[in-house]
Amino acid sequence: MSIEAPAPLANMGQPAPRLDARAKVTGIARYAADLPVQNPAYAFLVMSVAAPATIAAFNLDAARAVPGVLDIMTFENSADAVKKAKLFSDGGEASTSIKPLSSNKVWHEGQIIAVVIADTFEGAREAAHKVGVRYDATQPAATFDARGVTVEEGSHAVSTHKDATAGNFHRAFTDAPVKVEASYSTPTQHHNPIELFSTTCSWDGDKLTVREPSQTMYGLKNGIASQLGIEADNVRTLSPFVGGAFGSKGSLTPRTALIAVAAKRLNRPVRLVATREQGFTVSTYRAETRHRVQLGANKDGKITALGHEGWEVTSRADGYLVGGTDTTARLYDIPNVETKVYVVRADRSTPGFMRSPPEVPYIFALESAMDELAVSLNMNPVELRKINDTQVERIEGRPYSSRSLIPCFEQAAAAFGWKDRKPEPGSMRDGDWLVGWGCATACYPSQFAPAAARVRVTADGRVTVSTATHEIGTGAYTVMAQTAAEKLGVPLESIMMQLGDSDLPPAPVAGGSISTGSVGSAVAMACDAIRKELDAPGGNIVDALNAKGRGAVENLAEWVPNGSSIGAAGKLYKGSAQIVGGTKNKDHIMFAFGAEFVEVRIHARTREIRVPRITGAFAAGHIVNPRTARSQLMGGMIWGISSALHEATEIDPRTAGYVNRDLAEYLVPVNADIGKVDVIFVPETDTTVNPIGVKGLGELGNVGTAAAVANAVYHATGKRIRDLPIRLDALLA
Ligand code: MOS
Repeated sequence: MSIEAPAPLANMGQPAPRLDARAKVTGIARYAADLPVQNPAYAFLVMSVAAPATIAAFNLDAARAVPGVLDIMTFENSADAVKKAKLFSDGGEASTSIKPLSSNKVWHEGQIIAVVIADTFEGAREAAHKVGVRYDATQPAATFDARGVTVEEGSHAVSTHKDATAGNFHRAFTDAPVKVEASYSTPTQHHNPIELFSTTCSWDGDKLTVREPSQTMYGLKNGIASQLGIEADNVRTLSPFVGGAFGSKGSLTPRTALIAVAAKRLNRPVRLVATREQGFTVSTYRAETRHRVQLGANKDGKITALGHEGWEVTSRADGYLVGGTDTTARLYDIPNVETKVYVVRADRSTPGFMRSPPEVPYIFALESAMDELAVSLNMNPVELRKINDTQVERIEGRPYSSRSLIPCFEQAAAAFGWKDRKPEPGSMRDGDWLVGWGCATACYPSQFAPAAARVRVTADGRVTVSTATHEIGTGAYTVMAQTAAEKLGVPLESIMMQLGDSDLPPAPVAGGSISTGSVGSAVAMACDAIRKELDAPGGNIVDALNAKGRGAVENLAEWVPNGSSIGAAGKLYKGSAQIVGGTKNKDHIMFAFGAEFVEVRIHARTREIRVPRITGAFAAGHIVNPRTARSQLMGGMIWGISSALHEATEIDPRTAGYVNRDLAEYLVPVNADIGKVDVIFVPETDTTVNPIGVKGLGELGNVGTAAAVANAVYHATGKRIRDLPIRLDALLA
């Protein structure tokens, strides 16, 4: 066993190599834009450079004169092409209610205002650059503090948001002998998956096929059907591989319908691959947030009061919010809690999902404040977590289905060598380098949704598992195949996986870390049903099939998690996944936990910040594959370091546009930025979450990391940096 393929501990499966590894590294794997279509035309987007605005006039003469230009779609000829966009948060599919080309209105910089289609990509691009636009524009409000932003209560903007409270926060905080009160902020962050945002549409009569990297085959299929006013049965969506998603491909963006319309108008397949710069407003992003955290405690470290207010930037059109106070209010044993979330509407595109959307910014604030409290109490921060640990959350009083936070802290602390930490800031200097150690809690709700899967076993020994879930890099092909192989007693090599096609049985959006638990449960259910049908409780199912003289056996299973509404399975076929678990169920609260420990080294004179090592210990129920799970957690921690030290989208206040929209200027860590990353699995058994005991961990790893880094920076320097990202200039003053 290598470090990449950790030996399974209790309640873990085998570290099987990815089934799709060879296809990916040899280039055989076909991503959506690689899928062949006959004689495609190429689309290039024209994006607004001024907003808010109305378009006074287009001048398309120069663009039309470019050889090979076939069509230029604008509001003047396409206003009625796209019908409606019901938001994801309302059970729809769309990332935003903004409908580009529906009128002359421009909501934000980088909005699609025209689509040029030509015989070649180069022709479309040249023509797009020659589209003349005259705007009537006004001054935008870009973000917090800009003139013209409006502040609104989160529960007003989003009807499903409820501000968690318990006890009497004000009295408890006033009476607390030890208090921490501080403000924190996190910046705008943008998705930069290696695979660009693409859409390829073709029509065969009234049948539409959409090839698009997506986390939701049925969401895309049903969403595009309603946007075009056609039957969902007439739409097929394909996405066999996804080159990075993390929420950016979890809801339907406005580009898809426009490309479908373009293909219809030309009666020819149309392919769009948006540029990296355009990706910054073609897709969703993580909104900037602000936080005010108040913690009150007794001198022995028992926390008596938590106040957490959050502010999140959103668009004028949509009240998108993540509301991470749902998690922070319940994380520790705190009897008096008050939380409040506000949205701040600015002239921006609508934000959306990005890996651990609520927890990443909100846990940064809470876990930074926890460290500040530990400093005020003169207490080991690990001890502070122990004193305030709980197996029952305090808002509604529900028990955790399982919670191994403290074992995670203990194992990560031991592996990291935390006992050698000298608590005094700046006391662990090594030559020119100031050494700092910090830690924080990681957590993510264990959420589930209905899922369907078909399993077919044939007498020649082959097993086919079909479900319209997605390989977004997490290892879905491999872990679903492992689940079937284990249940059917057959070798992994005999499993053929079919994913990423809306002609397969429906699976929910591959978001919220729901897939391994949800789709895996459906696969397991189908396998159990096959065993029952063949009256073969154990052994190799193919032998049982042959012994019965059968040629094939097949089962379509629908798994519906506890807590789902009646009809949730039916809605799955309509593209909407009811997500339960996490904080949503009546009987239990369900979370996966972890603890992350970071060492930073800060140069005493230049203040250069390095992260030589990070150790995370995680407990997430049954681990189907320790190799792919380790990859997820390692990637999460690296992204966490990135959000602490690197990533920020810079906004030009004059245009509310993004300045650093490429991988040269938008900082992400490279190999040289990342030292040793250790992942420890803490065995955990949870029999409540689902039949296979999987909590999910796709998003767990990058929660808390930024706080652990900031806490380590404090320990190294004595400077508490409360605004991300932490760059060396913040440490120079
Ligand atoms: Mo994730 S942000 O739910 O893809």
